[in-house]
Amino acid sequence: MKNISYQIKQRNEKITLPEKLGFGVYFTDHMFEMDYSPEKGWYNASIHPINNFCLHPATSFIHYGQSIFEGLKAFKTVDNQIQIFRPDVHIERMNNSARRLCMPELDSEFVLEAMKELIAIDSDWIPTKRGEALYIRPFMFGKEPVLGVRPSRDYKFIIILSPVGAYYPEGFEPVRILAQDKYVRTFRKGMGECKTSANYAASLLAAEEAKELGFTQVLWLDGVEQKYIEEVGTMNIFIHFKDEIVTPKLTGSILPGVTRRSVIQILSEWGFKVNERLVSIQEVMDAYDNGTLVGVFGTGTAAIISSIGLLSYKDKNMVINNGEAGELDLKLFNELTSIHIGEKEDTHNWIFKVEKKEILV
Ligand code: COI
Repeated sequence: MKNISYQIKQRNEKITLPEKLGFGVYFTDHMFEMDYSPEKGWYNASIHPINNFCLHPATSFIHYGQSIFEGLKAFKTVDNQIQIFRPDVHIERMNNSARRLCMPELDSEFVLEAMKELIAIDSDWIPTKRGEALYIRPFMFGKEPVLGVRPSRDYKFIIILSPVGAYYPEGFEPVRILAQDKYVRTFRKGMGECKTSANYAASLLAAEEAKELGFTQVLWLDGVEQKYIEEVGTMNIFIHFKDEIVTPKLTGSILPGVTRRSVIQILSEWGFKVNERLVSIQEVMDAYDNGTLVGVFGTGTAAIISSIGLLSYKDKNMVINNGEAGELDLKLFNELTSIHIGEKEDTHNWIFKVEKKEILV
């Protein structure tokens, strides 16, 4: 299966994006869709106007959760080109999630081509302010109507696009994070390293309770002892100690973030000592008390670089950098967003260009 069929919506008016985009509330005109069956492999690939779909009430993912997704971004550069940030790594990660959940793998090259086509068609939706982007959401779910507990035979894979701004209500201002040990998100050898819906469902109650207390998000501790820090609900975390920058090592229960990986590389190139290791919440509190905690920030596709201005655990409130964005965090934000919008040369081969096209159907 290597053909895509096209059905393109004729749009007469110009697209005007709202001043405040928020995150994931606006959607572009088109979507990509294809199906899988064991007999045919991936088939029925098409790009068509975005639509609702109709599912049998026994559709297996609704009951047993075979549902995975990715989140990546496309940008318009300062010289009006279109580019995607590290789609290859995102597709590879999606295939890892697929394997863990007994779902079929994707043909990476074909999915990349389909993604580029869709973005080219909806390129007028790409916002241009720094920090804004066209968020790309590929997802896959088991679609066989069956109530037996086993992997679905049939699947659907879809890509939708959403013009987005800052993820958090704070915009790009520092966020307030609560480390909590009341719930765990996941545990080693579970599915924590996969981008599967279940992990996000597991995070909701803690996040809602934290919001009621005035926090933006939760910092998860490890699922066994609730001792080591893992990740924030929607981003990986970095602790800037006086002598080293640490991010929790990938033990299987942490999402291997693409921005995390990029930031480790950038920081190392800038000459920082970056370590991926276990780091306990106690170690962070001790560093705060003895003055060796320089900063704390999160990284993620949606969040980009997000300074953490307040980190609380039990009765301890750690106000970091007077609650303001750290110097290093800002520098990283500028570096990444400059690469995104082509202000800085892509020296790492992280950027994939999208050819503009005139759509004639
Ligand atoms: C992302 O950063 O892309 C995420 O997937 C986080 C969240 C929006 C689910």
